[in-house]
Amino acid sequence: MRTFEPRLLLCPDAASAAVEAADRVAAALREERVIGLATGATMAPLYRRLRHQLAGHPLPPRGVIGIALDEYVGLRPEHPESFRAYLDGAFVRPLGLTGEQIVVPDGMAGDRLAAARRHEAAITAAGGIELQLLGIGANGHIGFNEPGSPLDSCTRDVSLTAQTRAAQIASFGSADAVPTRAITAGIGTILGARRLLMLVTGEAKAAALSAALAGPVNPSCPASALRLHPEVTVICDPAATSQLGTYLDRKRAPETC
Ligand code: F6R
Repeated sequence: MRTFEPRLLLCPDAASAAVEAADRVAAALREERVIGLATGATMAPLYRRLRHQLAGHPLPPRGVIGIALDEYVGLRPEHPESFRAYLDGAFVRPLGLTGEQIVVPDGMAGDRLAAARRHEAAITAAGGIELQLLGIGANGHIGFNEPGSPLDSCTRDVSLTAQTRAAQIASFGSADAVPTRAITAGIGTILGARRLLMLVTGEAKAAALSAALAGPVNPSCPASALRLHPEVTVICDPAATSQLGTYLDRKRAPETC
């Protein structure tokens, strides 16, 4: 198994890490067409900055296509916690895009296998993803590929772990309201993008980032699969790197922003 070392960019704080990541996304949107989108709390400042960056700078005429990584099963698109609603508010409307320029897995589909296949087909039809934006779960998940997910998995219906669901209780208001399943792009799907950009901030992600960069490459930490891709940039703040230990010492010159 050939592995690569991701480029690690250390920023002074979470806000500057989000700005740095947003600047790269803005550049990609101006030059390329298809971008893979992540959601979640870490991404919120990134989308705010992106909106600001692109204000008054129209995107290329042929337009962009945003392809979401995942969606909860059983949430209507208009549900405020659906990833469709998140991306409509954070990406589609602020950038003046149309409904045809965003693809989100259909979490309401009766046939979820067919919905997952349609999502893969949409990625293929768009010509593949140029830049895939990623966050990381405290358990090392990417998209909703929970620990144990095969490194070559494709888009599919998955069950969410108790840890992942617990992290969402505050947003949903109660434990019972948090969905138990999601449709997620697989790890193999993610690795199919031409470039990967991960944004990691906060102490709560430190153990996961350490496992991803310095632990073994295997399904126990889905984010470790990033090391199977030659074009990966990880942008993080000091809190997220606090458990990297000797990994940082071994890096000859970690880049800073
Ligand atoms: C969301 C996604 C997830 C999140 C991860 C971190 O589309 O794919 O992998 O990136 O759960 O979420 P936050 O940033 O809310 O901690």
